[in-house]
Parts: sequence; structure tokens; C-alpha cells
Amino acid sequence: MTQIRRRGGALAILWILATAAVAGAAPLPGEADSARVEALLAQMSLEEKVGQLVQMSNPDDATGPVTARADRTRALRTGAVGSVLNVVGAAETRRYQELALQSRLHIPLLFAQDVIHGYKTGFPIPLAEAASWDLEAIRQAERVAATEAAAAGVHWTFAPMLDIARDPRWGRVMEGAGEDPYLGARIAAARVAGFQGSGLGALDAVMACAKHFAGYGAAIGGRDYNSVDMSLRQLWETYLPPFKAAAEAGAATFMNSFNDLNGVPASANAYLVNEILKGRWNFQGIVVSDWGSIGEMVTHGYAADNREAARAAINAGNDMDMESGAYGEHLAQLVRDGEVPVARLDDAVRRILRMKFRLGLFDDPFRYSDVERERRVLNNPAHALVARNIARESIVLLKNEGPLLPLSPKLRTIAFIGPLVKAKQDNLGGWAMEAPGFDYSQLIVSQWEGLQQRLGPATRLLYAQGSDIDSASTRGFAEAVAVAKRADLVILSVGESRDMSGEAKSRSNLHLPGVQEELIKAVQATGKPVVVLINAGRPLVFEWTAEHVPAILYTWWLGSEAGHAIADVLSGDYNPSGKLPMSFPRSEGQIPVYYNHFNSGRPAVDEPGHGYQSSYIDLPFRPRYAFGHGLSYTSFRYEHLQLDRHQLRGEEQLIASFELTNTGPRAGSEAVQLYLRDPVASLVRPVQELKDFQKITLQPGESHTVQFVIDRDKLSFYDARLQWVAEPGEFEIQIGPASDEIRLRDQFLLQ
Ligand code: NOJ
Repeated sequence: MTQIRRRGGALAILWILATAAVAGAAPLPGEADSARVEALLAQMSLEEKVGQLVQMSNPDDATGPVTARADRTRALRTGAVGSVLNVVGAAETRRYQELALQSRLHIPLLFAQDVIHGYKTGFPIPLAEAASWDLEAIRQAERVAATEAAAAGVHWTFAPMLDIARDPRWGRVMEGAGEDPYLGARIAAARVAGFQGSGLGALDAVMACAKHFAGYGAAIGGRDYNSVDMSLRQLWETYLPPFKAAAEAGAATFMNSFNDLNGVPASANAYLVNEILKGRWNFQGIVVSDWGSIGEMVTHGYAADNREAARAAINAGNDMDMESGAYGEHLAQLVRDGEVPVARLDDAVRRILRMKFRLGLFDDPFRYSDVERERRVLNNPAHALVARNIARESIVLLKNEGPLLPLSPKLRTIAFIGPLVKAKQDNLGGWAMEAPGFDYSQLIVSQWEGLQQRLGPATRLLYAQGSDIDSASTRGFAEAVAVAKRADLVILSVGESRDMSGEAKSRSNLHLPGVQEELIKAVQATGKPVVVLINAGRPLVFEWTAEHVPAILYTWWLGSEAGHAIADVLSGDYNPSGKLPMSFPRSEGQIPVYYNHFNSGRPAVDEPGHGYQSSYIDLPFRPRYAFGHGLSYTSFRYEHLQLDRHQLRGEEQLIASFELTNTGPRAGSEAVQLYLRDPVASLVRPVQELKDFQKITLQPGESHTVQFVIDRDKLSFYDARLQWVAEPGEFEIQIGPASDEIRLRDQFLLQ
């Protein structure tokens, strides 16, 4: 274990260098490809073209409601399918590919899969990784995921999910990067870079898919699949930036979404796909529908039948139909009837063939389906180190009175209590792959195992389950209390089960499920010092715990290395550095609660019921924990903010610098955050907007001068005509460790 104690970055860089040699040469897109695409297109019948636009799921491993289909094998052999999802493994993808190659033109399949946070090695859920604010660690995590997936025959991952979410009732917040468009955009670019590596065609790269385009995270009431109604200004300002960043980073594909946006389903939303994505952003890749979403436009009430739905979708720019069957059934006839232009069909086919050429599939359709390489790559022990590194960086220290943490080496007996202490699979969280052929009960390090390994024989670790995750039974409380009384300190591990967040997992009650908070109260009543670990896929509500328990770590779902990562943080081997990517509400009644809100004419005040203000009479308006919040075992001083100029003209830049000093007893990393405010503008602007951040590591007593460059772009916003403008006037700079903890401020003027 000496190796893991070194800086994660250095570790992972070594790993990247070591794997560069197996990446293989990337045939870059170019003239040769397009000539081959055109030659093939010229030979294709109308039906064969439509076939390329059809995506079908393996019915035995479906991630949605499977449409009844006559003969899937026949469809594969006759070229009626261009892509398959939910088939993984070198051997299985080879078997499917062999079927597809029996078709007249021998066009290979694209294999797609939801590799959301790791293929074999389980990484933290994406929301947790966002809490690391470490773009390089995120990129490396996706490098590992892509390397493993590509070795198991996968060409295309349906990730990253880039939906901004301000509503933790929505179960899919776990898949995204939280509430902030700037952080979301930076993470989007890092994930795309991680998945696509040195370029499509490299043997360790997969196509990324920016999803769900667009607005899906703003589902009304936090109910999955629900409608979205928002102003275009809101869409551009808050929801589109991560998608724009993904397009700029070269994401090979986009997926549209289930929701309607202002009355038009995203699957046939020409404004989103034709105008913004393919028009303004000049996106040349593939746009795939979401599962069955083309057919669902009939249920939406936007199309009378599948034929109309297919026509609307393809004409709006959607290239591939995932599982609805509408393209397969109707597209050829729609073209014959002149309702879909041949040019549009050809454009969609070209986009798909181009990617197949880039991936090298026409040169060797089995190049990602090599059983021997799969075995070697999936058993690379370095991958677990990359996972452990980002897992511990994802943990957020919410509270640490005493300080109780890190655990004192003098503790002789620790009680480790709760329904998640010995859990295995729950640590993977929602949307986790469990690669076929592996025993995950061996692969996952439980929290119990991680802590036991770390503490060694000198400290006794006692266990009681205490309660279930989600039942009303308090039968285990007495044992838990008895065990707590025998210990010097208690650690309680509570939270959601992994199937409580994810797709179709909206919840109206975000309190700790079941009687877990009662269990915390019972244990706390023993008078023993208590540390609570909260495992969840979303911000939960735990007011009593936040008020009364001295130390709280938010541990999300951390993946297969969860136990090690948590032990690293509890013991102090790793000093926590995570910061919340979403505001944590005090109660469901505050939702949506987000930091970058407008001021309003009667700004909210902290005490409830305070005059004619935009507050609640029964609840403070501020969240329990603000966006950007996260503590450390050390302390940081922010001082000497200096602007190199106080007036900016044209394209000039301003440099804001300040000194950051580690004033505490141990080394630590701090994600320093730069916020800007435009106090008066032609449209009201948020009270603060994240515009930059850096994660800085300092030894005790060490200082570092941090510099942020502020350019015109950072001062711009979408005006009433949706033009990206920077309006002259005063701007305010805010710098600090969290959105609610601004330590340094200054102003400057844009002329
Ligand atoms: C539906 C989900 O919304 C999408 O994110 C996923 O990629 C597809 N199903 C395929 O599993």
C-alpha cells in the first residue's frame, strides 16, 4: 500500500504512460474515410440505409421496455440493424458481429452500452466524481472505463450525462455533475476527453455520447420523463453549456431526451437538433434517440402514429432510432412518398458509417472483440488504484466538530454500525455495470473490510447492523446501542440503497429512508462521539443529524474501492477535499434550491417570517449545505486579493491573484472558487456565478499565489435576443472555499 499514499495524479499518470503503448494507432478521420463512405453509400438500397439507422437492444439484458420484434437474428443478418445495445464481452460481441457480417454489404455493427461510471472497475457515481472538482482525475477515470469497455467489445458509451439538475427529487441527479453550468461544462469536456482518449480508432477509446439533449434535468416536479417548460434564456444560460462544451470537445454522438421542451418532444425538436446542435454548433456526429422516445411521441400527443413520429424525428435531425421500431417500420416508405428527403436519410447514414470507419470496423470488425486482450485489460490491478484515487477525492466532509476526524490513533474500540457497513453491491450505486465473468462480492471492498484492513489489530472494530435501509423495524436498535456503549467512538453508515436513485427513481421524500435517523438518535444518546457516513445518489435531507451529530462525511456511492477510500479519509491517510456540486436542501419544501439565483426585488433574508421578503415563514431560505461546501482536516487562509487592473476594455484580460496558505497541521487540497456578479444589466443576473476554480495542494505552512484570468467571455451572458454579450459596467469578484463563504471581494469596470 505504499504506492497509494503517493499523490493520485502521479500514480495515474504513470498508469496512463504504461498503457499508451497498447492504445494502437488511431486512424484519423479524413479524405480516405469520406471516399469510402461515399462508395459504400452508393451501393446501398433504401432498406439497407434505413437499417443503419436502427438500434436494437439485446432483449435479455434490456435497460428499458423492449418492443416486440419478429426475428432479431434475421434482422441482424439482413442488414436491418446498424447498432446494438446491451451486448458486451469480446465473445458475445463477436457472435453478434458475425451475424451482421452475413448481410449483403457486410456492414459491421456498432455496440453501445451505458458505461456510466466504469465498466469492470466500479468508479464513484458521476455526481460524486463531480464533487472531486478534479478534472484530471475525472478524465483518468473515464480513460480506465473506456479502456476496459473497449476491450470488452464496446464501441460506444451512453455517457456522459450532462443534464443540469436543481431538483434532487429527480433520481437521475446521480448521473450528472450537479447544478452548475460552468462546473458541468468543464466536467463534460474532461469526460469526453477521457472516453475518446487519443481519438476514435485507438483500441482504448470509445465514442462518447452527450445526453440527454436537452432540458431533461428540469422535469417538472422532479418526476422522471416529465415535461419541461422553460424560457430559452434559461435553456441557453443554464442547461446548454455542458452540451456545448461536449460538442467542442469532439463528442462523437449526442442522445436526445424523453421530455418535451416547451411542448415539442426533444426527439423531434428541430430547434434543438437541427438549429442548435447541427447548425450553430456544426456537430458532425450521430444523434441517437433515447430508448423508445420516437414512438413515445404518440403518447406525448405530438404524433398520431409511429409513421408520423418517425417522420418528425428524422426531419428534425435525429439520426438513429433506439428501440422504438418506428424507423425500421416506416422510414423507407416515408422516403418513397417524398415525406423525408433522400438527402436527409443519406446524411444520417453517412454520420453512422463515418464513425464505423473511424473506429476501424471496416478494416477489422472484430478488433474490439479479442478475448485474450479483454482478459488482460480487465485484470489490470492499476485500474483499482485509479478508482481509489477518485473515490477518496469524491468524499465531502460536511461537518467536523471537535475535530472528531481523522480518527485518533489512540482509539482502542470503534463501533461500526449501520445497514451499509457490510454492504457490497450497494457501493456501486445506480447504473453500475457488473462486467460478466467477475464475482463482484469479491471485487468490491466493503466499508467494513476497508476500515478493518486499515486499522489493524491494535484497534477493535465492533459491528451491529442497527436497522435496515428502508423498513420501520427498530428491532436492531438495542444491540446497536449496546455495541456503541462498549466503544470509544461510533461510526454510523446510513443512506439509500443503490436502487433508490437512477432512472425512474424520483422520490418525493428525501429524508434518510426508514428509521435510520432514529437509529442515529438512539446511538447519539449514548453520549459516545459519533461520526455519520451518508451513502446516497442524491442530496438527502437529514436535519437532525446535521444539527446534532459532530462529524458527517457524505460518501455517495464510491464504487468498487469504496471501503478503501472511506478508510483512507477516516484514518487521515487522505485529507478530504470534496466540495458539493449541488445545494443540499433543509427540506423538500425548499426545492428547487440553487446558489446562482437572482436577487429578486425583495431578497430573501435568513430568519423565517421576516417582513415582506422572498422568504418562507417556516424555514430559512438558505440550503443546509451550500454549493461548493466541503471541509478539510487542515485550514486555508485566503488573503491579498489583487487585480492587475480595475478597468477592462475590448478583448483585454484581467488577472486576479491572491495568496492561499495552508495554516493547519497537515497537507491538503483546496478547490478555490471564483464567482462573478454583474450587479446591473439589461436582464437581471444571478447573485453569483462560478466562473473558474483550481484545486491546489499545499503542505502545512505552504503558500501559493493563485491566479485567475478574467476575460470578456467570463463576463458575457445571453441577452434578451439570445446574443452572447458582455455589457459595460461594474462587476464584482468573489473568491472563497464555497459559494456561501466568500473570503475575498473586489470590483472592476468593463468599459
Ligand atoms: C434510457 C436512458 O434514459 C438513457 O440514458 C440510456 O442510455 C438508455 N435508456 C439506454 O439504456
